[in-house]
Amino acid sequence: MADLVRDMARDLRHALDPVLFARERLGFEPDPWQANVLGSTRNRILLNCTRQAGKTTTTSVLALHTGMYHANSLILLFSKAQRQSSELLAKVQTHINTMDGPPKLLKEAATEIKLANGSRIVSLPGDGDNIRGYSAPNLIVEDEAAFVHDSLYEAFLPMLATSNGRLVLMSTPNGKQGHFYNAWAGGDPKWQRESVTAEQVSRISPEYLEDMRSEYGPWKFEQEFHCKFVEADDQFFSDEAIERAFSRDVPLLELNF
Ligand SMILES: Nc1ncnc2c1ncn2[C@@H]1O[C@H](COP(=O)(O)OP(=O)(O)O)[C@@H](O)[C@H]1O
Ligand SMILES: [Mg+2]
Repeated sequence: MADLVRDMARDLRHALDPVLFARERLGFEPDPWQANVLGSTRNRILLNCTRQAGKTTTTSVLALHTGMYHANSLILLFSKAQRQSSELLAKVQTHINTMDGPPKLLKEAATEIKLANGSRIVSLPGDGDNIRGYSAPNLIVEDEAAFVHDSLYEAFLPMLATSNGRLVLMSTPNGKQGHFYNAWAGGDPKWQRESVTAEQVSRISPEYLEDMRSEYGPWKFEQEFHCKFVEADDQFFSDEAIERAFSRDVPLLELNF
């Protein structure tokens, strides 16, 4: 009896505090920005973060927490293609497999996990096929959002209106175009914005970043690791040409005035 009460009290704490849930159940210690996302009560969130910041990991925790503590909830995972959205679902599955006190499951498939409390977490393809079959999601997560077609975003957005559901868009930038850029740059205060550069992630070493800087060249490096929306026009020059232009080995034109 005492055990039951203790477990119920713990579950209540975890229901109310996703950061505590992450720490105590998943053994996951969130970075400060990850804690901002997990603890947020906002229903529009943008994550414009470096590669390897932990975007997918964070939203997989959010998806699991939502599924476990909102019975009969629907959580939809989108990305540019089925493979990427299923990767996000696989992270949720990994948390379930390794966590302390996992939820009971009714179904475990590559594209859907169904919990005994009636909640479903579903990964969907990038072409918008099948989405008509779902309604009133509690949470939609869009991974690699800058690479997802605007038509898909426009197709799922109205679904949130009826359920007052939450939406998280996360990506590295991909030029000054598309719904991810528009939401980020548009300044609408309904969005919570989180941005993390590679230097702010303790897991990314300075040596790795130096390697990537010389491999990618400055524009791509700014985009992938410094969350910068590089002008599409800049891409008129090949990455190689850009790299050469910035290389110190290339002599500068001598200008005589
Ligand atoms: N708070 C954290 N503590 C420890 N490892 C983390 C944390 N957040 C992310 N990671 C690890 O960092 C790596 C990149 O995470 P991922 O979520 O795939 O990043 P992103 O989606 O931003 O590219 C993964 O190996 C993940 O396990
Ligand atoms: Mg990712």
